[in-house]
Amino acid sequence: MGSPTDEELIRTAFRALRNSYSPYSKFRVGAALLTSSGSVFCGTNVENASYGLSMCAERVAVFKAVSEGHTSFVKMAVVSETKNPVYPCGACRQVLYEFSPGIELVFSGKGGEIFVRRLNELLPEAFGPGDLLPSRS
Ligand code: THU
Repeated sequence: MGSPTDEELIRTAFRALRNSYSPYSKFRVGAALLTSSGSVFCGTNVENASYGLSMCAERVAVFKAVSEGHTSFVKMAVVSETKNPVYPCGACRQVLYEFSPGIELVFSGKGGEIFVRRLNELLPEAFGPGDLLPSRS
C-alpha cells in the first residue's frame, strides 16, 4: 500500500477527533501524522481541569510517534469542526520544527476544502536543533 492521500489522512484525523477530551473548550481537534517510513500516528486534544495542562492534538500525535521511534515526518493533517481550518498553535509549530522543518501541513474544517502549507512558511526563521547542535545545521 502506498502513502495515504491528503483526503485519507484528513479522514484519519477526523476519526481521531471523535476521541477529543475537550469538556472545557468543547473545541475538538484531530491530527494524523505521516512518517517518512509510511506509518500514521493520530492525535486529539486532551484537556485538563487544570487548564494549562491541556495538550493539543498535533503534539499528542508527534509525541506518540517519537515515543515509538519515529522522528522524521512528511505530512500532518489537522482538522476541526469549524468552517475555516485551524492552523497549529505556536507551541505545536515549534515541536514539529524540531523534527521536520519541511513538513507539509494539510488542513480541513467543516467546509471540506483542503488547505496546504509548509511548516517553514508558518514558522519562518525558527530557532531549532541546528542552533544548538552544529552537526544538524
Ligand atoms: N487545540 C489543538 O488541539 N490544536 C490547535 O491547533 C489549536 C488548539 C486545542 C487545545 C484546546 O484543547 C482547544 O483546542 C481550545 O484551544
